Amino acid sequence: MIPINLPQIGEEEVEAVVEVLKSGKLTHGLGEGPRVKKFEKAFAKFAEAKHAVAVNTGTAALHSAVVGTGLNKDFEVILPSFTFVATAEAVILAGGKPVFVDIDPKTYNISSTEIEKAITKRTEAIMPVDLYGLPADMKCIREIADQNDLLIIEDAAQAHGAIYNRKPVGKMADATCWSFYASKNITTGEGGMVTTDSNQIAKKIRLFRTHGEKAKYASRMFGHNYRMSEIQAAIGCVQLGKLSGFLTKRRENVRRLMDLLQKTKRLELPIEPPDRRHSWYLFTVRLERATEQERNRVVRELREKGIGSTIYYSNPIHLMPYYRDVLGTSELPETEKASKQVFSLPVHPGVTEEQVTHIANSLLSIL
Ligand SMILES: Cc1ncc(COP(=O)(O)O)c(C=O)c1O
Repeated sequence: MIPINLPQIGEEEVEAVVEVLKSGKLTHGLGEGPRVKKFEKAFAKFAEAKHAVAVNTGTAALHSAVVGTGLNKDFEVILPSFTFVATAEAVILAGGKPVFVDIDPKTYNISSTEIEKAITKRTEAIMPVDLYGLPADMKCIREIADQNDLLIIEDAAQAHGAIYNRKPVGKMADATCWSFYASKNITTGEGGMVTTDSNQIAKKIRLFRTHGEKAKYASRMFGHNYRMSEIQAAIGCVQLGKLSGFLTKRRENVRRLMDLLQKTKRLELPIEPPDRRHSWYLFTVRLERATEQERNRVVRELREKGIGSTIYYSNPIHLMPYYRDVLGTSELPETEKASKQVFSLPVHPGVTEEQVTHIANSLLSIL
C-alpha cells in the first residue's frame, strides 16, 4: 500500500536521538533543555516569528495558544467544522464555546463572509485552519478581526512551508499553532509549537506548558505538562533542516499528478491562489456531483489497488455526537457537501514518479 503519508526518517535523525539517549538528559524539568531551545530558535527563524514555544503535541499547542492569548470568561471562538477535532477541543479545554462556520467550497478553508455573520458580543477570537496545507484567506480574516477587536489563533498544523503573500504562513495571526505528528510535513513523532510576535503570549504559554512554573514548585498559574522532550526536539532540528527538500518533492509529485488528472472532468482538482503557496500536506480532490456512496466506492477501489487514499474529513466536527450534544446543530451545507465528496491521494516525498503514474492511471480507470 502506498500510504497517504509516511515519516521521512534518515540516519541523521537516528544519530540525533542516540546522542540524546547517550547524554542522559532526555528532558528538562521546565521544558527548556538545550535541544528544545535550539529547535525553538530555528523554528522561530523559519516562521519569521519573534517567539517559538515548543510543546508536546499540536493539540497542546492549540490549547496553550487559546489560554495564552488570555480570552475572557464565556468566550466564543469562530472556527471551521471541516478540520481535525483538536481545533475545537482547544476552545472547550480553555473554557470557551466553539462557533462553527461554513467553508469556501473552492479552498475548503473557513469562509470570510460566514465569519462576519457569526460574530456576537462574546466572540473573542477566530481560528482559521490552513486546511490540507493551503493558507486560509488571512488578509480578509485579519481585517474582520481588526474591525471587531478579535484575536486570530491560526491552526497551521498542516501547513509547514506554506506561503501567504510571500511570507511564511502564520505571520498574520496573533498566535500560530503547528503539529509535528508522524504524518505531518515534518515530524518529531508527537510534538507541537506555537509561534507569536507577542512577548506576553509567549511568556504565558511558557508558564502554561510546565505547570505554571518559572521555578520548580512555585506555580504562578494553572498549567499542564505540555513540555517537549529533548528527544523530540533533536528529531525536530534535523527534520526542519530537511523541510525544503521535502516540499520540493511534494510539489513535483503534485505537478505530475495534476497533469495526469487533467484528463478527467469528474474531478475538481485542488487550487493554489496566486497569493498563496500550498504546503501540499494533502492532495485533496472532489468527485464532482457525487454521492457519499460513489465517493466511498472510488476510495475503496483505490485502496484495493494498493493506493492509500484517505478521506479528510468524512465527519465534520459539528456532526460528531459529543459536539452535537454539547453545542446543538449547525447549518453548514458546504462543509457537509465537501465531507461527502472529497478524498486525498498520496504525494509525500517517499512517493516515486512511477507510483504517481500508477495513482493517476488507477484513478482514471476507476472513474
Ligand atoms: C488541522 C489540525 N489541527 C490540529 C491537529 C492536532 O495535532 P496533534 O495531532 O499533533 O495533536 C492536527 C493533526 O493531527 C491537525 O491536522
